[in-house]
Amino acid sequence: MASRHERERPVKVWDVPTRLFHWTLALAVLAAYLAHDFATIQRHMQLGYVVLTLVAFRLLWGVVGSETSRFWNFVPTPGRTAGYVRGLLRGRPPKTVGHTPLGSILIYVMLVLVAFQAGTGLFANDAIFSEGPLAKLVSDDTSDLLTDWHEQSFWILVGCIAVHVTANTLYELVLRQPLIRAMISGKKPLPADTPAPRLRPAWWALPALAVAGGVVWYVVTQV
Ligand code: HEM
Repeated sequence: MASRHERERPVKVWDVPTRLFHWTLALAVLAAYLAHDFATIQRHMQLGYVVLTLVAFRLLWGVVGSETSRFWNFVPTPGRTAGYVRGLLRGRPPKTVGHTPLGSILIYVMLVLVAFQAGTGLFANDAIFSEGPLAKLVSDDTSDLLTDWHEQSFWILVGCIAVHVTANTLYELVLRQPLIRAMISGKKPLPADTPAPRLRPAWWALPALAVAGGVVWYVVTQV
C-alpha cells in the first residue's frame, strides 16, 4: 500500500507577495503596539501607515492577484463550511489548496479589524500634543470617540489573532497539516492529483503596492 507521502506532493499554493504581506503585517501590527508603549507616538503612527498600505495592497491583490489570494476564491459558503466542519469534527479536515473555509472567516474578520484599527487611528488624538492626520476633519468629540474605538477594537483584534495563531498551531502539531510552513515556503503537501493553482509572478505586485502606498501617502499628507 502506498504511504501517505507517496500519495502526496508539495504544491506551490502561496505566491511571494501574499507571504510577504502576511509576515510583514504580523510584524507591523506587533511593532505598532510596542511603539505605542515603548517608543514615540510618531513611530506608532508611521507603523500604522505601513499597516494601512499593506491592507490596501491586499485589497488590490485580492482582486488582481494569484488564484489562491483572490477573495472570491475563498468565500466560506455555507455548503463548503458545513462540509469542512464535518471533516474537522471527525478529526480529518479536508486538505484545501488555499485557505480553509473556517480560516477564511477569521481572515476576512481580521482584515476588516486591521483596516478599522489603522483607519480610526487617522482620526485619533492622544489628548496631549499629537493627533492623527485626519483628526482635523472631525470635531473633538468625534475624534475622542474614534480614539476610544481605536483603543477598544485593538483587543478584539488581539483575541482574533490569538484564535488564529492557536488554530494554525493545532493544524501544524495535532492535525499534521503544515499550514504555517506553507505560509513560509509557499508549498503545501497535497494529494498528487491536485492541480497546481495559477500564481502570478511576484513583480505583478509592484504596481498594486505602488497604488496602495500612493493612496495612503495622499491621505496622510495631502488631505
Ligand atoms: C498580527 C498577527 C497576525 C495577523 C494580523 C495575521 C493575519 C492573517 C491574514 C490576514 C491571513 C490571510 C493571508 C492572505 O490571504 O493574505 C493569514 C493567514 C495565515 N496566518 Fe496569520 N496573522 C498573524 C499572525 C500569524 C502568526 C504568528 C502565524 C503563525 C503561527 C500565522 C499563521 C498564518 C497561516 C498559517 C495562515 C494561512 C492559513 C491558511 O492556510 O488558511 N499568522 N494571517
